[in-house]
Amino acid sequence: MKERIKVVVTGAAGQISYSLIPRLVDGHTFGDKIVDLELVEIPQVVDKLQGLIMELEDSNFPNMGNVNFTSDFESAAKDADWFLLVGSIPRGIVFNGKKIEERADLLQINGGIFVGQGQAIGKYGKSDAKILVVGNPANTNALIGRHAAGNDSQLWMAMTMLDSSRARSVLSKKLNVGIEDISKMIIWGNHSPTMYPDFENIISNGELGKNLIDDMNWVNNDFLPIVQQRGKAVIDSRGASSATSAAKAALDTVIACENPTKSGECFSAAVITDGSYNLPHGIVCGMPLMTTSEGSVEIVRDIVLSDFAKEKIKISTNELIEERSAVEDLLK
Ligand code: NAD
Ligand code: LMR
Repeated sequence: MKERIKVVVTGAAGQISYSLIPRLVDGHTFGDKIVDLELVEIPQVVDKLQGLIMELEDSNFPNMGNVNFTSDFESAAKDADWFLLVGSIPRGIVFNGKKIEERADLLQINGGIFVGQGQAIGKYGKSDAKILVVGNPANTNALIGRHAAGNDSQLWMAMTMLDSSRARSVLSKKLNVGIEDISKMIIWGNHSPTMYPDFENIISNGELGKNLIDDMNWVNNDFLPIVQQRGKAVIDSRGASSATSAAKAALDTVIACENPTKSGECFSAAVITDGSYNLPHGIVCGMPLMTTSEGSVEIVRDIVLSDFAKEKIKISTNELIEERSAVEDLLK
């Protein structure tokens, strides 16, 4: 009998989910496992999910198990292995008469969602559940959810894989190498314009990034702003926030957590700080991670940071501390 895995996806009727959900059951992301899906939406749109389920059935995916849709998060959370928390409001839309321009504007609007969902995950999710927060502001939402869950055996992550993919794309062009020739693309800090994509610690064809890139003018005026502002550039062009690339990044994060990381490599996601790299305690911060052969996800602790990197990371962790202060009422 094939192993089964239960995956909860919130915001299931949204644009990221439309790219994400089919690929959870296509036999690639979770390998040979049968995937039971719990698709969660707000009551106003939950019935739309019937159409998505029809499409999933019509696609004949080999690894699709039971598929339920609901607006009751608690019932969906029971014994779930994975939670992909996409459901929340994106930037670029008008909400209560105001255009949402910055991710920080989303703090109060979206933060509240993660209190109730966090409590349900802590109570009903599997003790080794993995939770990936995609909804913005992802780091602080994950902090709120993790706090509400109060269950240290579960792993809360905020997604920075998309930033890492963007940075690899820019670096591959600069270095004139393939995407697969760039590894260890670490994103430090917040999933926001203060994030620090660590070009110095990438490995490309056996060489460290700091030995390959000495053009600090390009780093400061091209590389960093392009990666840091890519979300906005997509919104400005599409009139909607990135969706297919965000879905791919969520899948890449799941795959990175489900399979042991190759020796000497790492992947990017934000997790609760634990004193490593002298990062301030109690924030969800982008860091290098690895999955052990036993399946646990751990912080990689041997990355060497330059003074330039430390200075940039401090800007981002300061922003995370400010975000935490702004949602103090949700962290009681
Ligand atoms: P969308 O508006 O298309 O979909 C969001 C869906 O979430 C909607 O269908 C909405 O009804 C649903 N929703 C809202 N509150 C909910 C709740 N409490 N429970 C369940 N569902 C709920 O938006 P999208 O483009 O899919 O983006 C979703 C989020 O992902 C946004 O916050 C966006 O900013 C964020 N995002 C993050 C990254 C990243 O790299 N971390 C990248 C892209 C987008
Ligand atoms: C992104 O990085 O594309 C998303 O976080 C959307 C946004 O608001 O920038």
